[in-house]
Amino acid sequence: MSSSRLPGFYKLGVAERRRIAATVLGIDESALARALSNGGLDLERADKTIENVIGTYALPFAVGLNVQMNGHDHLVPMVVEEPSVVAATSNAARLIRAGGGFVAEADDAVMTAQVQLDQVPDVDAARKAIARHRTELLSLANEVVAGVVARGGGARDLEVRDLGDGWLVVHIYVDCCDAMGANLVNSVAEATAPRIAELTRGRPGLRILSNLSDRRCVRVTAQVPLNELVCNGWSAHEVRDAVVRASEFAERDPYRAVTHNKGIMNGVDAVTLATGNDWRAVEAGAHAFAARSGVYRPLSNWSVGSGGALLGSLEMPLALGIVGGPSRSHEGVKLALTMSGARSARDLAMLAACAGLAANLAALRALATDGIQRGHMALHARSVAMAAGARGIDVEKVALAIHEKGQVTLEAARTVLRVLTGPLPELHLGK
Ligand code: MEV
Repeated sequence: MSSSRLPGFYKLGVAERRRIAATVLGIDESALARALSNGGLDLERADKTIENVIGTYALPFAVGLNVQMNGHDHLVPMVVEEPSVVAATSNAARLIRAGGGFVAEADDAVMTAQVQLDQVPDVDAARKAIARHRTELLSLANEVVAGVVARGGGARDLEVRDLGDGWLVVHIYVDCCDAMGANLVNSVAEATAPRIAELTRGRPGLRILSNLSDRRCVRVTAQVPLNELVCNGWSAHEVRDAVVRASEFAERDPYRAVTHNKGIMNGVDAVTLATGNDWRAVEAGAHAFAARSGVYRPLSNWSVGSGGALLGSLEMPLALGIVGGPSRSHEGVKLALTMSGARSARDLAMLAACAGLAANLAALRALATDGIQRGHMALHARSVAMAAGARGIDVEKVALAIHEKGQVTLEAARTVLRVLTGPLPELHLGK
């Protein structure tokens, strides 16, 4: 793709944004529009996706801008209900772009299959038996995931963990290539469990993946040149040092770390959702990883780098796939994957992590200076304007007026709207 830097994109209408996005991506504009009609999923497909379907449920699909990762530009597909996440992420990505963009790397797509055992009579002997039959067990695992083995993946290693009192868990590590991998890994757990039970002479228990996919981590770093940090009457040094202190606050206090990480997940989840991935798995893994030392800690860190720049880094597990599941059946997901430019699951994980680090920076910068409410209220004003009955260009006019007055209320919006359009019909607000 050409550039993800598209100044003024936010000011355009939806049709114009679609035209530009299609041009940048080099895809047909009408194909892009078609992919997003019905929210990307028609009723018939929805009915085949889950049970008891009575409809589909839409969320906004937006484009995160300005992201440059490892020297390449990407438009970031983002699906999220919260105002300001896309704008804030794009804005922070612009600051990071000025520092050379994101530098990202990801582990291979290695997931963990767990086979649980209890009543193991001799844990040491069981451990030795598993070690002796390592090759046999890995081959057994590979037989049930022959497709992924053919693509260069498959079972890589295994490990025995002693949980005490005759309880053991055997981990089998499987490279899932471009899949998220839950089905592959569950198949491996089920296929190997009987032989593992035989070898350990234990009682077999659960056979399922672990969502703590800590062998599938992504790491991103970014820096913002000092001069980019000046904002709303705050000096660059003030902003930088306030962001660094905010980061230290999260290091010192789990209550703050959770909210800090929530800000990261604003970006990560939006990409996860847009690309049809399992966001519950991503969330569970991220928070377990954050607590891996026994204390819940922030997933990212901000410090002062060379030349006084603001330096950010993020590490987290990220099990995202670009094949399987909705990538075959959901037109919106297909479009999101095309838009991301991801050629592999690792690429997608890196991009989602970039969005996470950018969302985190935007939140810390706002919190450390003016506070978050100013930006939020500007965007909230739009929904209030619409709730008051404003349509088309009146939405922005009413939103701006009530925001500037500092009265983001339905009543204030209706007063402004009345001046613009004349008498309004009565509002019937539900009880
Ligand atoms: C809101 O969605 C996210 C923030 O609370 C994150 C943070 O506090 O860092 C603003």
